[in-house]
Amino acid sequence: MTKPRFNPDLLTVPLYVAGRSIQEIREKYGLEKIVKLTSNESPVGSSPLAIQAALEMMAEAHRYPGVGDASLRRKLAERFGRGFTENNFLIGNGATDLLRMITQAFTFDGGNNVMADATFPMYHILTTTFGGECRVVPLDGNHRFNLDAMLAAMDDDTRIVFLCTPNNPTGLVVTQDEFDRFMKRVPEHVIVLMDESYYDYVTDSSHAESLGYVEQGRNVIVLRSFSKASGLANLRVGYMIAPAELAEYVRHALLPFNTSDIAMCAAAASMDDDEYNELQRNTVLKGRDYFESSFADLDLQAIPSQANFVAVIAPPLGAARLTELLLQRGFIVRELTTFGMKNAIRVSVGTMEENTAFIKTLKHVLETEGVAA
Ligand SMILES: Cc1ncc(COP(=O)(O)O)c(C=O)c1O
Repeated sequence: MTKPRFNPDLLTVPLYVAGRSIQEIREKYGLEKIVKLTSNESPVGSSPLAIQAALEMMAEAHRYPGVGDASLRRKLAERFGRGFTENNFLIGNGATDLLRMITQAFTFDGGNNVMADATFPMYHILTTTFGGECRVVPLDGNHRFNLDAMLAAMDDDTRIVFLCTPNNPTGLVVTQDEFDRFMKRVPEHVIVLMDESYYDYVTDSSHAESLGYVEQGRNVIVLRSFSKASGLANLRVGYMIAPAELAEYVRHALLPFNTSDIAMCAAAASMDDDEYNELQRNTVLKGRDYFESSFADLDLQAIPSQANFVAVIAPPLGAARLTELLLQRGFIVRELTTFGMKNAIRVSVGTMEENTAFIKTLKHVLETEGVAA
């Protein structure tokens, strides 16, 4: 049979490597109990109000979506204030879908996009998908964005600079001072993409406030997700906030019915579930503190995180071996090679029971391997 013609450019696009699933690890190791600390999901399930809203909307499962998009955008506009209207918002099938739309909208005719290494791999993958050049700037010695070097990497053909704050996988934020200095110097034609998927976990008051720049009409697009703090990763809802003219332009890359009313109504309901949102956030903040002190007790170097995960520099046995030993004992964590960090793992914050079981197992593994504190 003759082979179909493959697009050679598409074959250069790296595949996104997702965190290992519970099912996969259960089958591979024959384990009963698996703790998944690999994909930065909510440790406390979803909001009961969101589930109720989704179940009610299931009665409309035979119809194309028609109500959820406008009402979620209106609700977000009311919640954010600042004079924003629904025209400042676009809803995506997760933040990933919006990243796709934004990259598609601006990467054409030999453009380049600037991004860090290490950061969320989709910026690189999508830029390559749409034929753009990736200008990859290493983090500095403290795992922070090197914003001066990122500015120096830009030229007349730069379309987007991807900033992720808190950054996945380091958990570090861009500060207000850093961002103000950056915004003074960034060329006006460059879209500044602020990926704030982990925004709800930030406690550091020096964190950059990006929405003021959107309000001023600068070329800034802010991305948020319902997958993390709202516990709706499986329903796929994210949104972007941008000056109306930019949002209207990016809308051209939107696929019809990209997200279901079932998902969007659940997302809207989750915004009103104060009890869930507080429980979710408190669980993560407590777990994050616990992880940081436990890693210090084990003499491991952890990067101080503002997100719902912590990156830990692997001890001498190496990140790959450590990940494997933890997997064999039923704990799924993320080895960070595909995120651009060569010898580190990322651990998502779970329930306190999961966190303590993880630390106990980690301690045991380190002792057995002769690298205990
Ligand atoms: C930094 C960052 N941006 C975007 C996403 C995508 O989120 P979503 O589930 O909303 O597509 C993730 C998910 O891991 C992420 O870590």
